[in-house]
Amino acid sequence: MQASYILVKKSAELSGTVELVGAKNAVLVIISSLILTKGRSVLENVPNSSDVLHMISLLTDLGGQVEFDTQHNRLIVDTSDISKFDVKPEIMNKMRASILVMGPLLARFGMAKVAFPGGCVLGARPIDYHINGFKKIGVKIEENGCYINSEVDTSDKFKNVRISFEYPSVGATENLMMFAVLKPGQTVIINAALEPEVLDLIEILTKMGAKIDCGPGAIITVTGVDKLNPVKHEIIPDRLEAGTLLIAGAITGGQVTVKNAVPEQMDMFLDKLREMGHEIETGMFQHNGKAVGITINAIKNPQGIRIKTGPYPAYPTDLQAPTMAMLCLTNGTSYVEETVFENRFMHIPELQKMGSQISVKGNTATIRGVDELYGTKLIATDIRASCALVIAGLAATGSTEVTGIQHWRRGYDKLEYKLNLLGGNIEIFD
Ligand code: EPZ
Repeated sequence: MQASYILVKKSAELSGTVELVGAKNAVLVIISSLILTKGRSVLENVPNSSDVLHMISLLTDLGGQVEFDTQHNRLIVDTSDISKFDVKPEIMNKMRASILVMGPLLARFGMAKVAFPGGCVLGARPIDYHINGFKKIGVKIEENGCYINSEVDTSDKFKNVRISFEYPSVGATENLMMFAVLKPGQTVIINAALEPEVLDLIEILTKMGAKIDCGPGAIITVTGVDKLNPVKHEIIPDRLEAGTLLIAGAITGGQVTVKNAVPEQMDMFLDKLREMGHEIETGMFQHNGKAVGITINAIKNPQGIRIKTGPYPAYPTDLQAPTMAMLCLTNGTSYVEETVFENRFMHIPELQKMGSQISVKGNTATIRGVDELYGTKLIATDIRASCALVIAGLAATGSTEVTGIQHWRRGYDKLEYKLNLLGGNIEIFD
């Protein structure tokens, strides 16, 4: 039987206006945070992606009741009956974000039994920052085989603790914060991750009744409370979907407006588009009293640029692959340095099959702009690589077949539909 694939044909200049769904990297951790409450919460703007469906099945397996109104992107979660604190390995292995239930389970039950989450193509993706962080704030950890058994040390020794991360890990910051919100005393996290998705988690935890102070110098101070309450919350728009849609406008030389994008979450990315010569307009609309919206008026022969990924607010590593697709067709040479993951260049051999001129030395890729890319058969290896190859296919002569459709499904909610609304020529053969 023919494998499923995405068929992308050379498209005209993309133009028009589209809206974003909620951020994948906010909604997954926020669904997990609901374990901290007992009762019925409502999440709005939830993307219907397979990663979300996976997190729903994890919560259901623990005893949660979940109703997903995919028509209205509304998720209703009742956590009253959650009674289990162990997560099956087969569930842990399907998605790395499963590790984000560890903090909430420890906070709710005083113990948790999880398996090591699977690594992925981006690299080993260990969880040592999570484990060492938990140990420092009073969690006894026993690793046996693929299992991690953890139990809270309730002695006063860990009432007031300070921990500093050697690297501002998004997941470790989120996991420890979700444990600390119900831990008696004060927990200070130094060198915390402050991505917009982490701030959205802080916002919902605060709505639940948590006491969290986000101070200067990436220091998060959590003062434990006795109880957290169910809430209603709208997930922030997905800045990574926004970046993808704007890059699609750039690579086809079109004009694309992303109506609910939050410009101040994307400064570095927008500045780089401007450096290429594209015209960027922001803040044309109002949402909850804030100016939102981003428009790109792309030029035909953009300049090459230099980007270096890093923790927020540096250039987002999750936009590195689609950006590289765009940089294949510039009037110059570009340099992409990937500092977050040790193996996030898997899309390069696929882009080279299309006629791009890319060379790699260590963690830096040099991209010499070419006049044309050619459609061919490609293999997507991860969520953002699938995005890069679809984007490249929009501008490539002929047709491009991208297999590895599961990655596209994991990270996006009908993104192909939005790209086609803008004039893209994408068909999915399941
Ligand atoms: C989150 O992953 C995102 N995933 C990733 O998005 C994103 O790329 C990453 O943050 C960086 O922004 C979700 O939010 C679900 P990290 P996370 O801990 O938390 C190493 C996507 O495509 N590390 O900040 O796993 C790690 O290997 C995905 O949407 C350790 O060494 O990222 C990586 O090299 C991909 N030990 C670096 O730190 C640890 O204990 C950054 O990881 C944890 C991480």
